[in-house]
Amino acid sequence: MSVSKTEAKDNCSAPEPGGRRDFQSARLLIMAAGASAIVAILFYFWEMEPAPRSMRRWGELFLFMGAVVFTMAAAIFLRDWFVAARKEIRKLRATARDFLFLFSLSLILFVAAKGVSTFLAVTPGFGRLTDPRIYACLIPLSALAMVVRVLISFETAIMFTVAASVLSTAAVSGRWPELLFLLLSGTAGACVARRITDRYKVLRAGTLTVPVSAITAGALEYAFSGGGQTLQACVIGAVNGILAGPVALAVMPVAELVFGYTSDIRLTELGSANHPLLSRLMKEAPGTFHHSLIVGALSEAGAHAIGANAAVCRVAALYHDIGKAGKPQYYSENQAGTENLHDALSPGLSRTVILSHVKEGVKMVREAGFGDRVAEIIEQHHGTSILYCFLDKAKPMIQDRKASEEMFRYPGPCPKTKEAAIVMIADATEATVRSMRSPSSQEVKEAVTGIINRAYLDGQLNECEMTLRDLSILGESIGRVLIAIAHRRVDYPASGSGLADEET
Ligand SMILES: [Fe+2]
Ligand SMILES: [Fe+2]
Repeated sequence: MSVSKTEAKDNCSAPEPGGRRDFQSARLLIMAAGASAIVAILFYFWEMEPAPRSMRRWGELFLFMGAVVFTMAAAIFLRDWFVAARKEIRKLRATARDFLFLFSLSLILFVAAKGVSTFLAVTPGFGRLTDPRIYACLIPLSALAMVVRVLISFETAIMFTVAASVLSTAAVSGRWPELLFLLLSGTAGACVARRITDRYKVLRAGTLTVPVSAITAGALEYAFSGGGQTLQACVIGAVNGILAGPVALAVMPVAELVFGYTSDIRLTELGSANHPLLSRLMKEAPGTFHHSLIVGALSEAGAHAIGANAAVCRVAALYHDIGKAGKPQYYSENQAGTENLHDALSPGLSRTVILSHVKEGVKMVREAGFGDRVAEIIEQHHGTSILYCFLDKAKPMIQDRKASEEMFRYPGPCPKTKEAAIVMIADATEATVRSMRSPSSQEVKEAVTGIINRAYLDGQLNECEMTLRDLSILGESIGRVLIAIAHRRVDYPASGSGLADEET
């Protein structure tokens, strides 16, 4: 890559749909208000008994107002914490949806902490078993930190752990031991939930938190309160760890459903060839299906090379052109041996048909409940690039080429993540190399470099975190796979071709 950052144009001006943002903000407000009300009401009932009796009904109102004020203070603390973290930590990119999710989880944990400390302490049997304060070691922060790591990122899981530890400690009126236990068990949950691609790995990750939770609970109990109940603390810490996996497994699908996240577990399921949408693409648009498989392989290799999420890349690539399933005959990869329908259409009409596959694809995956990650990559996989073939066809009718270029651009937005940029480049390189007849390795490499340079100079990569180093490594990786795919087998002799020749 020999271009400078300032040379890249800014064609990524497609704004986010305002309606959707407004909807998210409204949803955020409604859910925050709802959560605040639930916490306030729970507080009201929990604190009923110790209300100053002399205040009578006013005392109840006072406690209710106190709970509301406390909840609002918690909300302000969470907001400031996550907003500051988003600004100051470069890798932390919390969206409004992430904020809403973290806010909800923190409040749920807060209520759970209050519930654990209040109900277990007065439940017959439990209250006598051990000191009620040790039940704080049952607060399932490690499970929720695992969920945040799987659905968002490690950095976000750590920020969540710190915020939720402080809040939950306040809920149980705890001190240093409770705070330290929650910080350590939550950090352990965030650390072990790495590369979770199936449900078994969630359970396994949960069990890995058992030693941390058990030893931390026992050590803190011994250090802060003497050795009397160290064993009970160890056992309760271990139970927390054992439950971390099942609790995370129970929370994750709900979070995916309510907040539109797509975990790698779900992505693995979506990547199965048996999925109805992929089966449909295979039957109705076999050319597009084959193209998507190769783009999937290229994207996965590219993602591994630069440390992006390979599972997201592969699945998004498999579905990136799913919108073509409705009108497969209008796309060149499905036109083998048939006439080109665009010969009979005006360039403007062809443009409309081609552009529609992006919008249609987004609609199809949203209706199938894929979550936002795949839908966003489909929406961004052409960025605001130009449909050169129809722009050139419209040349005789064009007076101002610059103005016409804008008409023949995809509506965007441009890739906003490394994964979306990888799929964009893999898609363009596959289509280009496929159109070449028996290309040499050097020609494939030049084609890949040319596509990356053009995307960069056209400003298509301005909104993602790709560095020039990433682009260089990505180009090499995609080029290597494409060369292997484009490699032509030696001609088989007509009489001797058979199974033994397959490895030729
Ligand atoms: Fe496409
Ligand atoms: Fe494509």
